[in-house]
Amino acid sequence: MSLLEVQNVSKTFHTDHGPVHAVRDVSLSVAQGECLAVVGESGSGKTTLANMILGILAPSSGRLRFDGADLPSRRLPDHRRAIQLVQQNPLSSLNPKRTIGASIRLGLDTYGIGDRSGRWRVVEEALDAVGLPPAMRKRAPSSLSGGQRQRVGIARALACDPRIVVLDEPTSALDVLVQARVLRLLNDLRVSRGLTYVFITHDLAVVRNVADRVAVFKSGQLVETGTTEAIFTNPRDPYTRSLISAVPVVDDDELSLRNSLAEGT
Ligand SMILES: Nc1ncnc2c1ncn2[C@@H]1O[C@H](COP(=O)(O)OP(=O)(O)OP(=O)(O)O)[C@@H](O)[C@H]1O
Ligand SMILES: [Mg+2]
Repeated sequence: MSLLEVQNVSKTFHTDHGPVHAVRDVSLSVAQGECLAVVGESGSGKTTLANMILGILAPSSGRLRFDGADLPSRRLPDHRRAIQLVQQNPLSSLNPKRTIGASIRLGLDTYGIGDRSGRWRVVEEALDAVGLPPAMRKRAPSSLSGGQRQRVGIARALACDPRIVVLDEPTSALDVLVQARVLRLLNDLRVSRGLTYVFITHDLAVVRNVADRVAVFKSGQLVETGTTEAIFTNPRDPYTRSLISAVPVVDDDELSLRNSLAEGT
């Protein structure tokens, strides 16, 4: 069953230089438990689509459906809780003046999750779930490594007990080894919690590791969707072919190295 449906959605920004058609008549669906990768060059409309799914932006036209019902532009707290974001840059998305525990707790207070006395325990469980020591909740974001911060960003989304997580380039700011570990963590969490991911990335090597299906964007339009295997083995659209041919070739040795590193985390 589709958990999320995007039906004929468009978004036009009206700027001083005229209209910008950031997303044009896009329709796609994401099944419960699935990881849909959204790929496409810079400026192709990926973040704009994400912001509409999250309710940060209202579509200019079209509609969004979640769990069989229309998603209103003004989201109910339940919707905001159920659809969470993990951003690219964890440092800029975490308030430097708050401890990381306080940042994670904010969502729990906002959505009234658990009783007040139990919320620090939920925060600690969320840190534990992403492989960080629960005592880390007292630390400032500036004292963490990039990989640790990204785990905090994931913990913050998870603590709200979401159904869908929109990940906007979640590993792009990380070096390749940390990236492999975070991807592995994201895969494990999806399976163990039955989560659904909309995974935005420009990195097709990442797509191959995490996605069940792929949606390819170009200039605000969806040019192709298909299973990850079909997209990589038999891309139909010339644009998809050009994206795939631009992926650096990963040889078997490098692949098994990456896998064994991810294995060890
Ligand atoms: N608030 C805005 N006002 C005007 N134009 C915008 C606004 N937000 C995005 N755009 C434009 O819409 C288009 C799509 O932008 P978007 O950020 O969705 O692309 P993207 O695929 O996420 O790119 P990137 O890979 O660089 O993150 C771009 O032309 C961008 O300049
Ligand atoms: Mg973007």
